[in-house]
Amino acid sequence: MNYAQLPKVELHLHLDCSLSYEVVKQLNPNISYESYRESFVGPVKCTDLADFLTRAINGINLMQTPKELELVTLDLFQQLKADNVIYAEIRFAPLEHQEKGLSPEEVVQIVNDATAKGIAETGIEARLILCTLRHYTEEQSMKAVKLVEQFQGTMVAGFDIAADEAGFPIKEHIKAFEYARQKGFHVTAHAGEARGADSVWETLEHFRPSRIGHGVRSIEDPKLIDHLREMKIHLEVCPTSNVQTNVIDTIQDHPADRIYQAGVSMSVNTDARTISDTTLNKEYTILEKEFGWKKAYFLKCNLEAIEHAFVGEEVKERLTKKLKEGYMD
Ligand code: ADE
Ligand code: ZN
Repeated sequence: MNYAQLPKVELHLHLDCSLSYEVVKQLNPNISYESYRESFVGPVKCTDLADFLTRAINGINLMQTPKELELVTLDLFQQLKADNVIYAEIRFAPLEHQEKGLSPEEVVQIVNDATAKGIAETGIEARLILCTLRHYTEEQSMKAVKLVEQFQGTMVAGFDIAADEAGFPIKEHIKAFEYARQKGFHVTAHAGEARGADSVWETLEHFRPSRIGHGVRSIEDPKLIDHLREMKIHLEVCPTSNVQTNVIDTIQDHPADRIYQAGVSMSVNTDARTISDTTLNKEYTILEKEFGWKKAYFLKCNLEAIEHAFVGEEVKERLTKKLKEGYMD
């Protein structure tokens, strides 16, 4: 089946890990295609998540000025259009873009404005998720969550924690997530990727997210799978990324199908379009080939993604209608 034409929803993708060759060439005209592939695209198999994350530095280095941030954001909208994405939640860590003197507030404002422009230009609905990072201090994490507060009512729709789950504990971030909860922000959190089910339990208890980024290692604990289903916690599943970060050995071993069959709410996502050299079209094709997934499976995942999206009911209804129309034979 050719999935290119089907409408899609993407809840989990990192702006700084999704720069096309076109935009990189625009920002650094001396770079050859070969050199782009070598530095921006990761190997099919990284040692671990920490190794995978070293590739993100190239993108972040090219996202330090207003023009660079705007172009990279608009470039992502073009990639989403090619994938027929109708709704995307784009995440990034604002504190990572201060090398040339921008304040975190300026960074968010620039990406926010570019997102509004991208929406107007492409008709793709989109929102932003601001990330704290595992290795941040409590103060940095608080700074990140307060940006969500400052940008309420804009394209900023939620809060996340990313980076090295196995290398850094959650301690420094509990306060930021408590703050997010008090303020009623939408929250997701990377967990159950570089660490197992215990990390997902811990994240649920201390961060109270409505969604988990990845969460695929929840499959190691049947009680957790039951809990996720009962509490309607949504897993943002990113198959290729999990094989590349060496969280899962091979795509045949990936628990996406077992998670789906267990009735846990889930969506299919790219995570890092450039590092993983992937698109949603490719991810859908992989799930079809490896697990025999049909159109109806993807419709269900997309509907569940909308249900758990960090956006209002009116937009959800419009997107749901668009999705259902797109999947009619
Ligand atoms: N940042 C970009 N990709 C990530 C991943 N897969 N896990 C944690 N942080 C990330
Ligand atoms: Zn991620």
